[in-house]
Amino acid sequence: MSSSPTYSPPSPRSRALRTLVIGASRGIGLALAQQAVAAGEQVVATARDESGLMTLGQLGARAIKLDVTLPASVATLAWQLDGAGFDRVFVNAGVFGPRLRTLDSPSVDDFDAVMHANVLGPMQVIPQLVDALAADARLLVMSSTLASIGGRQGPGSWLYSASKAALNSVLKDVALALAGRAICIAAHPGWVRTAMGGPGGQLEPAESAADLRRLLDSLTPADNGGLFNHDGGVLPW
Ligand SMILES: NC(=O)c1ccc[n+]([C@@H]2O[C@H](COP(=O)([O-])OP(=O)(O)OC[C@H]3O[C@@H](n4cnc5c(N)ncnc54)[C@H](OP(=O)(O)O)[C@@H]3O)[C@@H](O)[C@H]2O)c1
Repeated sequence: MSSSPTYSPPSPRSRALRTLVIGASRGIGLALAQQAVAAGEQVVATARDESGLMTLGQLGARAIKLDVTLPASVATLAWQLDGAGFDRVFVNAGVFGPRLRTLDSPSVDDFDAVMHANVLGPMQVIPQLVDALAADARLLVMSSTLASIGGRQGPGSWLYSASKAALNSVLKDVALALAGRAICIAAHPGWVRTAMGGPGGQLEPAESAADLRRLLDSLTPADNGGLFNHDGGVLPW
């Protein structure tokens, strides 16, 4: 699948597609929200501060304030989504944490911050949005090639890798729980030039977002519970 800066899907439905992006203040999440709005979709997107909320509002998305690590913040999400019937959900919010080398033990605070954002966050958020999924919805959690145990070639950022590998486990359980109701995958967005990916990345956020939107459209029920690259390739767990 080749990268193109934007992607507008065919719309077989009689209504506009409805898209939810969790963690959309900047980077890949913002690009996902921008492209969905530009394609005429009804977009709900979350940010955790006023500046992010304003960015999303100006874009034309309905902005919801959400910090995925805070139970009190997540607790009202289902109520705010109000069974909206989302066709596509991107659970994108995540942090890298300290650039620890393997065998450098993380502090408890660093461990908690990364695991709370990347693992506890989705485990709190996804149950809140299940009742807001449309029939035949597609849900993507933002994983990473660094999560892949089978594909790992050398030591790396072991705290981040451990958190995304745990996220992959979470995704597999979600996929089993929602089988027949939604197609749920984990995906690597590419190495993307964002605050997290840095300037050396291979893709612009818009290119990654276009690929991820195309990937969701290409899924069949047999893909439920899979781990994919942004270009549609299957990644080893
Ligand atoms: N960039 C890459 O090369 C790359 C590669 C593999 C995987 N990924 C994954 O792709 C996703 C997006 O990455 P990115 O490169 O776009 O990163 P980014 O530019 O750093 O953006 C991260 C996004 O997550 C949000 N976020 C972080 N903690 C949050 C929390 N507790 N509650 C709610 N939102 C929170 C941020 O909101 P604030 O603005 O409020 O901080 C921001 O919108 C992440 O899950 C990342 O692990 C990225």
